[in-house]
Amino acid sequence: MSNQSKLIIANWKMNGSLLKVTDDLEVYKDKLKNINNKVIFALPSLFIEKAIGVLTNTDLLIASQDLSQFDGFGAYTGELSGAMIKDLGVTFSIIGHSERREYFNEDNEILIKKLNNAISNSITPIFCIGEKEEARKNNKYLEYLLSQLKVLDELSITKPINLIIAYEPIWSIGSGKLPSHFEIEEVASFINTHFNNNSKFTIKILYGGSVSNNNAMDIMRINLIDGVLVGGASLKINDFLNICNYN
Ligand code: PGA
Repeated sequence: MSNQSKLIIANWKMNGSLLKVTDDLEVYKDKLKNINNKVIFALPSLFIEKAIGVLTNTDLLIASQDLSQFDGFGAYTGELSGAMIKDLGVTFSIIGHSERREYFNEDNEILIKKLNNAISNSITPIFCIGEKEEARKNNKYLEYLLSQLKVLDELSITKPINLIIAYEPIWSIGSGKLPSHFEIEEVASFINTHFNNNSKFTIKILYGGSVSNNNAMDIMRINLIDGVLVGGASLKINDFLNICNYN
């Protein structure tokens, strides 16, 4: 058993209601006092302010699920800028989730802008990478992941930053299919080596994709894995509480 503290992120995606946010976070606030791990809730933006109110004076943190490629303020209907997220006191944002890459056509050019906007607003990116099933089957997944990591070479960074890399194989998200522990460790080691001797970033590596109450503990014991990014299971209070109580 490892007693190293882990980073556990709930990604609620487009789920929840004002009532669920309030009710669930009240439970977490009560049950997750003094836990060893760091827990972050990536909530729909509309509910963030409410969540911050509920979680005042706790160690539980909030992330946005995305931020705009446009910085500051301006005529971009529907967008939420890094400056606005910072204004709320939120210091983490998911960027490059495969659902955004796929359904909102977010390519590398857009992701570079989003990452730069996060960094310039002191928001730690939770940058998601992950291969399609075909790349896994054709044994091309490391090239695929490398091409996603290369985006980070393009950032305008003036001082070292914290960066969370979430390895989320697309074929595993919401499917119940998981890579083997060996395969997760192989990718974690690949990411770790990629950042070796790179003084610009201090990284943490998470695994995401069909993480559940049944498999989270074993995943968090894999070498070089600093925590998990949890989608579906983060909407079920008892399952997520169990995951958060990892030790
Ligand atoms: P899942 O989603 O846990 O429901 O597979 C993970 C994610 O997309 O971040």
